[in-house]
Amino acid sequence: IYAGNVAAGKNKSAACAACHGADGNSLVPMYPSLAGQSANYIAKQLADFKSGNRNDPIMAGMVAGLTQEDMNDLAAYFAVQNTKAGTGESNVSGHKLYLGGDAAKGITACIACHGVSGKGMKQAGFPSLTGQSKDYLKKQLASFRDGSRGNDNNGIMRNIAIKLSDADIEAVSQYITSL
Ligand code: HEM
Ligand code: HEM
Repeated sequence: IYAGNVAAGKNKSAACAACHGADGNSLVPMYPSLAGQSANYIAKQLADFKSGNRNDPIMAGMVAGLTQEDMNDLAAYFAVQNTKAGTGESNVSGHKLYLGGDAAKGITACIACHGVSGKGMKQAGFPSLTGQSKDYLKKQLASFRDGSRGNDNNGIMRNIAIKLSDADIEAVSQYITSL
């Protein structure tokens, strides 16, 4: 059961600021923003980096010394920071895919889980995509597609990503930067 302490998380977050920003809004495209992300999702990702279920050499090192309580506290802290809205340009085909999926290709609409404004569904552990860079979004979708990111329960994202073309990934990632 998830239960983190915001103040304790703030104290533990100094080690994260260089890459994710002190308030969880990253300034560097390859480092995801954590501000306003679902605490359940953040805690799950940290546990997955620790178990090796999600592979990233930098994050593996960061979580190696963290306890479950540390991870819960960090998740609580970043979850209550304010997300910055995306400033990217929209994209017509990306918008269409996000809202409607693609019946011919069997692609479920992203909106079903990530929501109309990209904020996700916190209780369900569906992450917010708002405020992430296009580079980060593209990397995650490509990693789900080739299976190098396989920590999504029941392949929920891998089953979608495997049906996305390079053009789909480009378009939908561009669209999400406008949310
Ligand atoms: C990814 C938390 C420190 C670099 C993530 C994610 C979380 C996280 C929750 C997944 C985000 C998502 O899926 O949207 C933290 C915490 C830290 C910390 C709590 C401090 C204890 C750092 C530092 C760096 C870094 C210091 C850089 C030196 C990255 C990178 C990714 C990432 C590159 C993306 C990995 C990928 O492409 O899959 N971090 N982080 N993190 N973090 Fe950190
Ligand atoms: C994760 C995009 C559809 C459920 C993600 C991530 C991206 C993404 C970029 C990684 C977020 C991060 O690292 O911070 C999309 C797009 C979709 C789509 C572009 C449509 C083409 C869906 C649907 C569902 C879903 C329909 C639910 C049925 C999830 C879940 C995760 C996730 C549960 C987190 C997996 C984990 O625990 O690591 N999605 N998504 N997504 N998405 Fe989607």
